[in-house]
Amino acid sequence: MNGDGAPKKTMGVDPYERNWMYISIGVIVAFFVLISIAGLALGIQVPTEERRVDPRTFADSAPWGEPAREVGDGEYEVYVVARTFYFEPASIEIPVDSTVTIYVSSPDVQHGFRIQDTNVNMQIVPGEVSKLKYTFDRPGEYPYICTEYCGLAHAAMFGAVKVVEEGAEAEEAEEAREGEGAEEGEEGEDE
Ligand code: CUA
Repeated sequence: MNGDGAPKKTMGVDPYERNWMYISIGVIVAFFVLISIAGLALGIQVPTEERRVDPRTFADSAPWGEPAREVGDGEYEVYVVARTFYFEPASIEIPVDSTVTIYVSSPDVQHGFRIQDTNVNMQIVPGEVSKLKYTFDRPGEYPYICTEYCGLAHAAMFGAVKVVEEGAEAEEAEEAREGEGAEEGEEGEDE
């Protein structure tokens, strides 16, 4: 009367199948969480293709290959030419706490551009401009290297970002370093 006698309708999903469905959903959720952490918390960036340039001519025109230039308060930009077998410029000098937008392209073959101790790591394709932004909040030298085999002198392709302290801060830091150096020297003599 109340329907107890009627057969209950179920989906009839095989337990194995159901478990695999849960696992699949779990994997998707896990990847979503991991990618969110990578992008939002760890600041991992995907290099974007900014635009295309003519690989035969772009390197000849400014600001390609020129030193980093200030475009705002603490904002810099630099256009790096990655070619066999050197970077132009080979040295990028900026004050500490600067945010630098780095554009890189190649006039010849495929290269890589990785700055040590940062999350800047790009593939450089001829005629395409790769772009990443990074804030250098600690002074020091950050070497950058070519990460894709591009020919016999691939290993010679490197440069460095020099993050310098300005004014009184810089002098103090230098004195502190010299002081440490002297102490270490004395200790060495005593032994
Ligand atoms: Cu350029 Cu390796």
